[in-house]
Amino acid sequence: MIHLMIDGNPVEVEKGTTILHAAKKVGIKIPTLCYIENLLPDGSCRLCVVEVKNNGRTKIDTACTLQASEGDEVFTMSEKVIQSRKQTLDLLLSDHNIHCFSCEGNGDCKLQDYAYEYGLDCSSYEGEKSGGEIDDSNKFFTYDPSLCILCHRCVNTCNEIVGRGAIATMERGFQSIIGNGEGKWADGTCESCGNCVQACPTGALTMKRRKKYRAYQVEKKVLTTCPHCATGCQYY
Ligand code: FES
Repeated sequence: MIHLMIDGNPVEVEKGTTILHAAKKVGIKIPTLCYIENLLPDGSCRLCVVEVKNNGRTKIDTACTLQASEGDEVFTMSEKVIQSRKQTLDLLLSDHNIHCFSCEGNGDCKLQDYAYEYGLDCSSYEGEKSGGEIDDSNKFFTYDPSLCILCHRCVNTCNEIVGRGAIATMERGFQSIIGNGEGKWADGTCESCGNCVQACPTGALTMKRRKKYRAYQVEKKVLTTCPHCATGCQYY
């Protein structure tokens, strides 16, 4: 077993346990954007950083990927940690189309929640935004790259939970978007199960609200779940 301290609380965990799970064990919640429980960590958002001291050395690292070591002293809300999270959120907002009040994700957006919690209502960086065209080709949902934070929750859900592998990160760097590899979302092997939409922490992937569909909450309602698809049938 590994023994460590998290925010002054002694914790005992099995070897291989991440700091995120060790903290959870003593009721300490660390903010995450890209992490999905029970999947391998993506480590892309950098919001879950913590400060770790051990053997006279101090480092800032991501709690979702870092495994606990004997004697670790972990600080989840130190000044350095808060500054690092603010910087991460500032950078995410710098390439985000901030129109929260008219956004489909308003009120159901983790980026919005954390920006509010850490006192940011806009980015301190000015400059070009990556943007990209809205992909409206799927009958049931829409992908807006200007709201995408490239956390890969949708891709990891499609690959590892649904087992479909219908979407991936396309292009590189500033041009990166999520798509089916080539062409529009509707052109690929996507079966419109909607799990990617549920996994999206922002308004980048949203269910369509058109006249032939019911309201948002009803669209998301799962009526049945069978062992084949693990998705459930939904009202439209
Ligand atoms: Fe750890 Fe995103 S939750 S890097």
